[in-house]
Amino acid sequence: MAQTIEGQKVKSRSLLTEEMKEGLRKLLRTEPLFDEPMSSHTTVRVGGPADAFVSVYSLDELRMLLSFLREHQLPLFVLGCGSNIIVRDGGIRGVVVRLNGEFTKISFNGTAVRAGAGALLSHLINAAADMGLSGLEPAVGVPGTVGGAVISNAGTATEYIGERVHSVSVLAEDGTQFEVDREALSFGYRHSNVLDFGKLVIAAVLELERSSPERARERIERLVEHRRRTQPITIPSAGCVFKNPPNERAGRLIDMAGLKGFKLGRAQVSEMHANFIVNLGGATAREVIELTEFVRRAVYEKFGVLLEYEVQIVGEE
Ligand code: EPU
Repeated sequence: MAQTIEGQKVKSRSLLTEEMKEGLRKLLRTEPLFDEPMSSHTTVRVGGPADAFVSVYSLDELRMLLSFLREHQLPLFVLGCGSNIIVRDGGIRGVVVRLNGEFTKISFNGTAVRAGAGALLSHLINAAADMGLSGLEPAVGVPGTVGGAVISNAGTATEYIGERVHSVSVLAEDGTQFEVDREALSFGYRHSNVLDFGKLVIAAVLELERSSPERARERIERLVEHRRRTQPITIPSAGCVFKNPPNERAGRLIDMAGLKGFKLGRAQVSEMHANFIVNLGGATAREVIELTEFVRRAVYEKFGVLLEYEVQIVGEE
């Protein structure tokens, strides 16, 4: 199969043989997508093809998939919402999986909520507010899934979802499930040790606080409004590109370096918030990544601060 990147024919190097594709079709409840462009599944809308892109709906189905991948020595990549990630133009070898169905369930028990890793944060936050529960507001407006948010400890610059995590359910590559308690978990700024315990997260239990639906909603509204005013939420982007350095804001440094609005091809440093790189339509991953590197160099030369990536850059050139 050939893929087109900017008019060029590029041979995709799929690891999947026709036999493996047939095997996947038989194994899964829904049709796998082969040579599926990741630009259709990432919020910045760039990225080459995944050899296979599949959804799984239950733990049994996920375990069968893991065993198939082990048998054929195929790599697995778990995708959440496709935010906070830049997939290179060569795409992802192996199988990209999205957790759906039972992995999106949310259930409350007093002030605790158990949420599947594939549940959308926005659903979780709204469901909690309906129940008069508060505490997830730092993650308001993050276009992510519960799994991705817990792994990367999503939040604002000062408050994180990790503070609410009571335990996580993880799955090892051989399909064994582990419940990991709070005491064993550690959360830092946009970082956690969750994946030290398994290959993927399948659910998390979060401990919330009693509030009222009105108060919870009012807080959500305020934070959504802040994002609407300060972030380019209507233009494709991967979210904040860099972590904030200690006692500083990456956006402020990039802004002071005079880079707001700077373009490379169809990628641009957002005019609204300098720590976002937006896709003006038709950008390649190469343009987006080269622009991030340019920004990093410029900030280092001007302020002597080497910005650390917050976005995950994955896949092949
Ligand atoms: N600023 C500028 N110029 C800019 C952007 C920001 O001077 O172009 C200044 C602002 O004026 C403000 C300060 O920098 O004084 C902080 O800006 P903001 O309130 O937007 O917060 P941030 O530190 O840039 C952090 C998180 C965001 C999160 C917001 C919620 C990081 C890297 N970023 O942004 O997270 O949405 O707080 O308030 O921690 C993400 O993780 O993808 C993300 C976007």
